[in-house]
Amino acid sequence: MKEVMILTGAGQIGMAIARRIGFGKKIVVGDKSLKNAETIAKIMNEAGFDVTPAEMDLSSRESIKNLIKEALKYGEISMLVNAAGVSPSQAPVETILKVDLYGTAVLLEEVGRVIKEGGVGVTISSQSGHRMPALTPEQDELLAITPTEELLSLEMLQPENIRDTLHAYQMAKRCNEKRVMAEAVKWGERGARLNDIAPGIIVTPLALDEFNGPRGDFYKNMFAKCPAGRPGTADEVANVAELLMGPAGAFITGSTILIDGGATASYYYGPLKPQE
Ligand SMILES: NC(=O)c1ccc[n+]([C@@H]2O[C@H](COP(=O)([O-])OP(=O)(O)OC[C@H]3O[C@@H](n4cnc5c(N)ncnc54)[C@H](O)[C@@H]3O)[C@@H](O)[C@H]2O)c1
Repeated sequence: MKEVMILTGAGQIGMAIARRIGFGKKIVVGDKSLKNAETIAKIMNEAGFDVTPAEMDLSSRESIKNLIKEALKYGEISMLVNAAGVSPSQAPVETILKVDLYGTAVLLEEVGRVIKEGGVGVTISSQSGHRMPALTPEQDELLAITPTEELLSLEMLQPENIRDTLHAYQMAKRCNEKRVMAEAVKWGERGARLNDIAPGIIVTPLALDEFNGPRGDFYKNMFAKCPAGRPGTADEVANVAELLMGPAGAFITGSTILIDGGATASYYYGPLKPQE
């Protein structure tokens, strides 16, 4: 039996990470769009990987459990890569919270129950959560440890407290980082590690939707005025995943690594700083 990697989200970032570290493993890739999962399964199988596609919905605990059940048929789960998600231009507030916030929390919890000793996981949040003002320590703690089934009932996530889809996305991504910290403690009890990557603008279909969406000019300005002066690539995100998930990252767990070409730095202390 092989060790198994669960990959959720058959997008560019997920595929880049799986290609970098999924060699020799059975990779079970779940996506809401079976077509997307099948597409990357084909590309990767034709490049020597062992990938099985599956339909799954990150916003459903039952669907997540089914994916885990399917994965366990092939062997022990030693890696989780969560790169499924919806962006502010792709979905309404409710869907963003259900998929990006609740779904990610459930996935980390459910995989944390079965991850093999020495296993590693990574989830993808976003730089977006880093440009929202700090929440109170109490709010951070609520996002970190509220039982998953109660998360979406938190007062701060009710419609009257969420301004728009961008705000929902930022809250979801902030929650991802806090959940990773809290879950890393539990994963540690199994000898496993869990981390988070917060990318800036990475050219993928999701980002292209943003470039062509209502905030298109804002996004184009963001990469033009960040220190790197360009958007990033999924393969650069995979560089970070390789560090976090490999032996060189053995002392890193519960962390978020920002990889944004310096856009956040510029947002606070450079030309991307919002004008008063
Ligand atoms: N591309 C960027 O600029 C960028 C920046 C920061 C963060 N991110 C995050 O990276 C992650 C991956 O994004 P990407 O850019 O590779 O996008 P992508 O569009 O290439 O891939 C996302 C995948 O998630 C799938 N998906 C959507 N809803 C789902 C659901 N409910 N259940 C299962 N699968 C679902 C989509 O079908 C798609 O295949 C997302 O969480 C996104 O928020 C992306």
